[in-house]
Amino acid sequence: MNVEKIPATEGRFNLENYDETYANFDWKDVEKQFSWYETGKVNMAYEAIDRHLSTERKDKVALLYSDLTREEAYTFAQLSELSNKFGNVLRDLGIAKGDRVFVFMPRTPELYVSVLGTLKVGAIVGPLFEAFMEAAVRDRLENSEATAIVTTPALLPRIPVSELPALKHVIIVGAKEELAEGQVSFEEAMAKASSELEIEWVDREDGMILHYTSGSTGKPKGVLHVHNAMIQHYQTGKWVLDLQEDDVYWCTADPGWVTGTSYGIFAPWLNGVTNVIRGGRFTPEDWYKTIEKYKVTVWYSAPTAFRMLMGAGDEVVKRFDLSSLRHVLSVGEPLNPEVVYWGLRVFNHRIHDNWWMTETGGQLISNYRSMPIKPGSMGKPVPGVYAAIIDDQGNELPPNRMGNLAIRVGWPSMMRQIWNNPAKYAEYFSIPGWYVSGDSAYKDEEGYFWFQGRIDDVINTSGERVGPFEVESKLVEHPAVAEAGVIGKPDPLRGEIIKAFISLRAGYEPSEALMDDIRKFVKEGLAAHAAPREIEFRDKLPKTRSGKIMRRVLKAWELGLPTGDLSTMED
Ligand code: WT7
Repeated sequence: MNVEKIPATEGRFNLENYDETYANFDWKDVEKQFSWYETGKVNMAYEAIDRHLSTERKDKVALLYSDLTREEAYTFAQLSELSNKFGNVLRDLGIAKGDRVFVFMPRTPELYVSVLGTLKVGAIVGPLFEAFMEAAVRDRLENSEATAIVTTPALLPRIPVSELPALKHVIIVGAKEELAEGQVSFEEAMAKASSELEIEWVDREDGMILHYTSGSTGKPKGVLHVHNAMIQHYQTGKWVLDLQEDDVYWCTADPGWVTGTSYGIFAPWLNGVTNVIRGGRFTPEDWYKTIEKYKVTVWYSAPTAFRMLMGAGDEVVKRFDLSSLRHVLSVGEPLNPEVVYWGLRVFNHRIHDNWWMTETGGQLISNYRSMPIKPGSMGKPVPGVYAAIIDDQGNELPPNRMGNLAIRVGWPSMMRQIWNNPAKYAEYFSIPGWYVSGDSAYKDEEGYFWFQGRIDDVINTSGERVGPFEVESKLVEHPAVAEAGVIGKPDPLRGEIIKAFISLRAGYEPSEALMDDIRKFVKEGLAAHAAPREIEFRDKLPKTRSGKIMRRVLKAWELGLPTGDLSTMED
């Protein structure tokens, strides 16, 4: 496509010459960086934290934490010691390699210590977003058969312990009340624990982290990543994030989502960089203040956040000194060109879009500091990654033709399992040799990739991936709801919003009050971000003869588009 390019950034960067590196790169060369290259035995937490203790980074600040009530800094040495302690806490409870340990709490230093300690004993981390309500928590703990969870008193009521037979231990951070059976005080256990720990050395292919994500059908799927992913986290931390020794890095994502772990924990610490963690809610002032105060140099966020900052106006930006910034990135949903131009104007920086998914574990397509960017494009593949546009038979399409965005299998951070669901896993690889993303895109003559949309019904609202089935299932639990169909409706701020079409049970009449009640029901049962912002009552919903609600038709109604082939629709 002929759009104006914004020239490469000046100054030093880790990826000097994209074309040359792309042509010559081999992941094997990255492996040599790690201590396990010789032994083959590995541990992500060791590589991210402990490895630095024999270097000058030992007393460097690894974690800079701030929210409205706390402000703390931890060095690599301190994080090593605290995570050793937490590893011992888990071992004392009998947690061992391969067990699933969940973290369900707000972004606080204890969350990061828990993740690292869990990895050190070889257990698999399951991060849960703090906004999840009971049904969402239950689905994930049940499916993974988690044995332990770390949480806070405020979130405790959302864990249905009695319905989860595998769940033996609930570790509570900041417990105030008397502990019940199976409950452990984080602080008390940590105070007693030794700071010496035998790290569990695992194989590269052993499970490390389990992120649940949504598809268009069925319950959320547990995407399993293995320790081997560190190769990709480390190297993309260099090329895409451009991390360098003196950087102060801030990723705004919560570890409940993959960006908040791959690039909020692993990539920065594997590269030995100071990592800013900001608790609390989003406000434009607080975010700019965070950059100013900690002199953030590399900032990784998402389109909805940038659009909200843009909406807050240029005047707000001017009240802060953001001159420390040297690199700004975005992921999760399409980044509008106008946001890129706004960023250029107010920050004097290009916002570098990049593309990947929960399933890919790490960045695969990106705009790099060292190359010109085309606003609206996701950029070019990471060296070592072969991305292509293919048709449904697996043939590569010529430039500018829209098709399936697919990746040749074999990049280091690719998911290795859908937990307990080999059939779902296989669906991603139905075209031999390829991982099929579910996104449609095209590639231009110069090799830049352009996102076009999802092929399935998955909704992306503010960068959060919501499965329509999960929302529909919750909706029909409401006493007034007979049937529900859920779609993503385009929205200028959030990318998409969730819209529900609902038919009511006999005896119920449409009303504003009922709408509010239904919305509240999803909010409290599932999660606030899963609640439909818009609800439309209909006498009947379009269904196939086999009774499946046709979201495609709902979407066409909503957008005023032709409904297409209706031959499978019931009368
Ligand atoms: C889906 C994956 C891993 C990042 C967080 C989201 C959409 C992701 C972009 C982008 C347009 C994007 C895709 C993808 N997406 N990045 N740069 N431009 N769309 O991870 O929750 O697994 O969602 O987010 O549709 O399939 P996720």
